[in-house]
Amino acid sequence: MQTKPQAKYLKDYKAPSHQVEQLELTFDLHPTQTMVTAKAKYLALEAHNSLTLDGVDLKLVSLKVDGKAFDDYQSTSTTLTLSSLPNEFELEIVTEISPQTNTALEGLYLSGGAYCTQCEAEGFRKITYFLDRPDVLTVYTVTVIGDRAMPSLLSNGNKVAQGTLEGGRHYTTWHDPFKKPSYLFALVAGDFDELKDEFITRSGRKVELVLFVDKGNLSKAPHAMASLKNAMKWDEERFNLEYDLDIYMIVAVDFFNMGAMENKGLNVFNSACVLANQQTATDRDYHTIESIVGHEYFHNWTGNRVTCRDWFQLSLKEGLTVFRDQEFSSDLGSRGLNRIDAVMAMRMHQFAEDAGPMAHPIRPNKVIEMNNFYTVTVYNKGAEVIRMMHTLLGEQNFQKGMQLYFERHDGQAVTCDDFVAAMQDASKIDLTQFKLWYEQVGTPSLKVVTSFDAELSQYVCTITQQNAKHDPIQSPLHIPFAIELLDKEGQALPLIVNGERISKVINLTEEEQTITFEQINECPVAVLLEDFSAPVIVNYDYQLGELIHIIAHASSDYARWEAAQQAFTLQMREAVSQFEQGQPIRLSYALIETFDKLLRERKGDLALLAELIRVPSFDTLATAFEQVPVEALNESIAEFELAIASGLRSTLKDTFTACVENGELDHEAVSARALKNTCLYYLAKCADEQVHEWLESQRTSDNMTLVLGALKASLSAQLASSSAAMNEFDSHWRHDLLVMDKWFALQATQKGDDAIKHIYDLYSHPCFDKGNPNRVRALVGSFARNNPEQFHRVDGKGYELLGDLLVELNAINPQNASRMITPFMSWKRFDAKRQQLMKSQLQRLAAMSDLSDDLYEKVEKALS
Ligand code: TRP
Ligand code: ZN
Repeated sequence: MQTKPQAKYLKDYKAPSHQVEQLELTFDLHPTQTMVTAKAKYLALEAHNSLTLDGVDLKLVSLKVDGKAFDDYQSTSTTLTLSSLPNEFELEIVTEISPQTNTALEGLYLSGGAYCTQCEAEGFRKITYFLDRPDVLTVYTVTVIGDRAMPSLLSNGNKVAQGTLEGGRHYTTWHDPFKKPSYLFALVAGDFDELKDEFITRSGRKVELVLFVDKGNLSKAPHAMASLKNAMKWDEERFNLEYDLDIYMIVAVDFFNMGAMENKGLNVFNSACVLANQQTATDRDYHTIESIVGHEYFHNWTGNRVTCRDWFQLSLKEGLTVFRDQEFSSDLGSRGLNRIDAVMAMRMHQFAEDAGPMAHPIRPNKVIEMNNFYTVTVYNKGAEVIRMMHTLLGEQNFQKGMQLYFERHDGQAVTCDDFVAAMQDASKIDLTQFKLWYEQVGTPSLKVVTSFDAELSQYVCTITQQNAKHDPIQSPLHIPFAIELLDKEGQALPLIVNGERISKVINLTEEEQTITFEQINECPVAVLLEDFSAPVIVNYDYQLGELIHIIAHASSDYARWEAAQQAFTLQMREAVSQFEQGQPIRLSYALIETFDKLLRERKGDLALLAELIRVPSFDTLATAFEQVPVEALNESIAEFELAIASGLRSTLKDTFTACVENGELDHEAVSARALKNTCLYYLAKCADEQVHEWLESQRTSDNMTLVLGALKASLSAQLASSSAAMNEFDSHWRHDLLVMDKWFALQATQKGDDAIKHIYDLYSHPCFDKGNPNRVRALVGSFARNNPEQFHRVDGKGYELLGDLLVELNAINPQNASRMITPFMSWKRFDAKRQQLMKSQLQRLAAMSDLSDDLYEKVEKALS
């Protein structure tokens, strides 16, 4: 490895040396020689006569201070330091950059012919020399000059001027009246189709809405537009927040490292998170688009109007904004299903991160590469921490806290402490102990022991909390613990403690707490941590019968699903030991019977039912084991699915037929399709002629949810017809890369000895491109995540495939490489043989001479 990248620490935070009064940027666009002129007025904040600016991969063309050429400066590969400066001065810097060769997709780059920028977290320094840190806010005026073949020349704020220039060029000037940090700057230039609409705010202001998409994609834009309008309305109603500019633009681009970016007034989106029609997008995609459009819109207040003091505070905007987008989705759709989604993400990904070498608090205190901290911990666990505050304060106090937060900090760059202080001051609820959630690392666990005393009519619940072993905070947290007690009939019992009726949420603040529920006349079944009221692991000895009782009766949909998950996990533990002793694997008949009853009754939300009867994923089940029993798990999952398929065959058929969907997008139709697909998935495993017919008719329908459902079912059941079906899909959809991503993802889950070779072959498919993060995630990401059988092959070929890709991606796109390495981070959770194989891939990366900071940070942590 080369010189070790340096870490930055939260404790070393220093206020900026200068303030920037205003910034004028001019871009003269050219694929390999874009000229950027940055004119800014700097003001020393204390007695500073030198100024150090950030700048990476820049060619410095000229530098002037107060209009005169200036040469009292020194530069390194990442900084430019000017000396002997007056207190106040105007700085003009011209730099040259090359968007075309920028494959890292950070800074200014070309995405399929269009120019676009990505500045968060530290990409602005790849455009010009600047104080590229979130606590330096200023007003931007931006002029974009480009070929007339690119009609749209966009930047943040309002358009203030435009005109034509010589040589087939033209320009547009934008002014953003709101002060912002550099990470919220954006520029886009290209030739797009535009979907226009408007929104009238609560106070009666008209906001112009424009969605820019690649030519020919207008028919896929309406859903994102509708989502935007819903988000604007919802934020007014629930959070009392109104949009502030006269225009809101969203641009969809094909090359993008993440989902989307909240640049002020000019969001840039991964096209996968915008484009949808029923032929090309699944119901899931529709849901994802709605939530991401919402997420970026909500950032306008939580992130843009009030931003982060430094990047360690990222959760200030991300945790809060994820909480807001989850609430948006829940208010518009099904609260139960949205909660299930959120918890699945926590269990499958966040718990794994928290248990691995990259574990960090939601407010990290040490960072090498900031891009590595856009994590499920900062985002999703961060949102759970906000949700706990919401639970502790209640909606009213929480909204009072939000209001106070904006009163105090609008226009500022602040810290997580500032947010909690606003919540505490507005609600008068002491959050001192609660704040430990910002520092603690790893998933805390709760051990619950219960006993029933018939004579005293008491049910006693003793809860012990334990911090993770690697948590630097070894003291009790403030945990809201929601509980429900069900009697034999499934009725929720009133919770009476010390003679008084209490609410569902118990405040755990001590290492051990005993709660005595009174007036309980029969031993109840306890629903623990209802709705996942805290991001913790609960250890409690449930009997299968109790879980079945909860599945049938709990008042919360989430809790019913959770009990089914627990039941599967319980059964899985037995199955794994059966497998290891060479005995046949069994799934309890009682559980199958329960599912049978639920399917026959078909009460409530059908999509919930679809989730309930699904065997949890490999990754989810794996978390239940100290060491992941790869073969036993794969085998047991397959056996469980077969047991459900054969045990419920006629019920599944009846359900499939009874689920009528009208091809629309309303919740009922979406739910019906979800349940249909789950039924078909099982039915394909013991397919008769009728099932083949159903598969064929869904596969050839014009609804992508149904088409994919059928394909997935056939592939998973390894039906002979699936290979022809896949080929047909390929020739039908080659013109649409986003649809082809679904095909690549399916290809990645194929089994069989030549599965690995098959994936290497797909690298030369005309639609594949290692420079496009969507393609890489679709093929290799799905392989590593959704094909445990092949990825964890004992011959190491699966690991080698990912290792090979990472070596290449390191040079093309370090950010993407760093996301793709995730499966290797949990290498210590596997058996010795697999540990060795994964470790050698990590060592191979560690030995590279040009390893990026992004991969260095992870590889180093994984191996230490
Ligand atoms: N702020 C963006 C969001 O959460 C995240 C993001 C988009 C991002 N693109 C990025 C983060 C590139 C790091 C790098 O909505
Ligand atoms: Zn965000």
